[in-house]
Amino acid sequence: MRIGIVGHGTMGREVEAVLAERGHQPVIVTRGRPFPAGCTVGIDFSAAEAVPGNVANALKAGARYVVGTTGWAERLAEVRAAVEEAGGGLVHAANFSLGVNLFYRVVREAAALLTRFPDYDPYVLERHHRRKKDAPSGTAKALAAILEAAGGRRRKAATALDGAIAEDSFHVASLRAGGIVGDHTVGFDSGGDEILLEHRARSRRGFALGAVLAAEWISSRTGFYAFDAVLEDLARS
Ligand SMILES: NC(=O)c1ccc[n+]([C@@H]2O[C@H](COP(=O)([O-])OP(=O)(O)OC[C@H]3O[C@@H](n4cnc5c(N)ncnc54)[C@H](OP(=O)(O)O)[C@@H]3O)[C@@H](O)[C@H]2O)c1
Repeated sequence: MRIGIVGHGTMGREVEAVLAERGHQPVIVTRGRPFPAGCTVGIDFSAAEAVPGNVANALKAGARYVVGTTGWAERLAEVRAAVEEAGGGLVHAANFSLGVNLFYRVVREAAALLTRFPDYDPYVLERHHRRKKDAPSGTAKALAAILEAAGGRRRKAATALDGAIAEDSFHVASLRAGGIVGDHTVGFDSGGDEILLEHRARSRRGFALGAVLAAEWISSRTGFYAFDAVLEDLARS
């Protein structure tokens, strides 16, 4: 397949390599130009503010789309409406790593168990490289949403603290330094002990592979999907 790469930065170059490995033809999409005719799908690792416009361009060209770019959650409903109205197809994820998506499941199960033991305060800690533009990471927000949905004593995510943490809240903290690819920790601390669940990304290839799998999957479908729907389907087939 000819697959357009929208945003040819660190992640775009990883996607280019994985596409070539899997026998696809990568096409670098130039910023400000229409989405190229003849590309079945576009894969977007660009900038949050560019996502709605990039999706509109791909829809105009009749292409399916995969969004790996993070930080555009508040425009999700608008983008979804545009895709559905056009009869297009889109897969999005704040984290396309297979391991992270399995980690979400582990955290969901742990949170369901630990909410029955209110001595254990949950928290989320994410660590990334100094260049990352959004904080907390989209993955940390997804982990916080899992903890919120579990409905324990501390069920509200607090990302900015101005004094002591509220009784009904849990802390979601971000750290930026050097070249950390992406670490996410979910902890449950009772004061006397602590249970830690952790995912560490060692390279960016895992993210690129997930995005390419999503592109292959959406190429023959319509609709608006999160990556976990794709994984569910791939796991069944
Ligand atoms: N979902 C996941 O699994 C996952 C994994 C890693 C990263 N990400 C996200 O992916 C995004 C990109 O990360 P990155 O590390 O690759 O960043 P990066 O190295 O800064 O690359 C971003 C690229 O997008 C280009 N760009 C910026 N604005 C654009 C626009 N309006 N239209 C088209 N291209 C544009 C930039 O070009 P210039 O340099 O010319 O501005 C650059 O080439 C971030 O949102 C990051 O959080 C997601």
